[in-house]
Amino acid sequence: MHVDTLILGAGAAGMMCAAHAAGRTLVIDHARAPGEKIRISGGGRCNFTNMYTEPENFLSANPHFCKSALGRYTPWDFIALVDAHGIKWHEKTLGQLFCDTSAKEIITMLRAEMTRAGAELWLQTQVANLSHDGSHFRAALTREGKTHDITARHLVLATGGKSIPKMGATGFAYDVARQFGMDVTETRAALVPFTFPEGRFADLSGTALPVRASAGDGQFDEAMLFTHRGLSGPAMLQISSYWQEGAPITLDLDPGGRLLDTLRQQRAQSGRRALKTELGRHLPARLVAALADHTGCVLTGNLADQSDAALAELCDRLRHWQLTPGGTEGYRTAEVTLGGIDTGGVSSKTMEARSQPGLYVIGEALDVTGWLGGYNFQWAWASGVAAGRAIAQRQQQAPLA
Ligand code: FDA
Repeated sequence: MHVDTLILGAGAAGMMCAAHAAGRTLVIDHARAPGEKIRISGGGRCNFTNMYTEPENFLSANPHFCKSALGRYTPWDFIALVDAHGIKWHEKTLGQLFCDTSAKEIITMLRAEMTRAGAELWLQTQVANLSHDGSHFRAALTREGKTHDITARHLVLATGGKSIPKMGATGFAYDVARQFGMDVTETRAALVPFTFPEGRFADLSGTALPVRASAGDGQFDEAMLFTHRGLSGPAMLQISSYWQEGAPITLDLDPGGRLLDTLRQQRAQSGRRALKTELGRHLPARLVAALADHTGCVLTGNLADQSDAALAELCDRLRHWQLTPGGTEGYRTAEVTLGGIDTGGVSSKTMEARSQPGLYVIGEALDVTGWLGGYNFQWAWASGVAAGRAIAQRQQQAPLA
């Protein structure tokens, strides 16, 4: 069997690529259904893009790599597609766009776009024996117990990263990339909750509050959640991408920076109020009750008992609470994989590998990782479109005989 383009992986990037490629395209996936991560994303409503997407919202050894594809397929292009399919959406917060009804609508839309482009989809299909014979890629595809030898002019690697192995994620893309002479940067779980030994925050489990969280070069003002295992919530997921094992993270529990002035004012007006009571008006009561144990803050006495220096020291501690996580929950719950196929070996315009013409790499398999908030899907769409368009252009120049 011969096809113009064989796409490995019917996830966000692979389906988008198939919708833009021309000629005979076959998309294969080992899963039972396409776009499984789309289906479970955004709590079932898929945070499909972010209106404020900029290259600065991505981590990569080469921060310039993502610019070209993101500039040529923007959130507004995807929104236009969603609108054309009559899918209703809303902005939740910070430019994050979600489906009003269900993430399944995005999968249905992508399948329709693939069908319109004439692409075929094979599910529950295994790929083996990948090679290039000098003019074509060769592979053995096994489906329903039958093996099909296939040749393809273009091969697109869209099998994603290692996060959520339960859903079939493996390091497959990295193995194929190495086979064809590409480098792979160090990978680790990202957008993932932190764990702490001995259930350190179990007493606070379920407590949430807005914080400014920092680790390495990353700083985010978002909500944080104490869990039985450690710390989660958007702020923690965001800084997990910037955190190095063994390093501390810093929490500012007063991100607005108004607590010290407020405490001084309240001391003047209601000096007999207990310090803990006053703090409970600004922080969750359960956290205030546990603060002394966790941070070493002294919270005894009334407001009137507190000197300026004591209040300043308390607020300083609350604004620079340093904690060293034991680790993260790892790929089991990580939304993405940080690192991946080295972008140095890939054209930022077409996503084609420099070491192997005709091989394209797209989506999360590459060393491009977005922040939490719809950026990772926007990268999947944009990189998929870049490769799909490049393949379509090649097809026009030299259609298959
Ligand atoms: P993706 O993982 O989507 O697709 C890869 C495909 O390849 C899969 O269908 C897989 O079955 C297949 N495959 C893998 N190995 C194979 C093999 N050996 N043979 C055949 N097929 C193989 N992002 C965002 O922007 N907004 C959001 O709301 C969320 N929410 C979210 C929630 C959860 C729980 C997770 C885990 C992740 C998110 N993400 C997200 C991240 C987002 O899902 C992710 O970045 C994209 O799905 C990446 O798209 P890809 O197409 O590159 O990989």
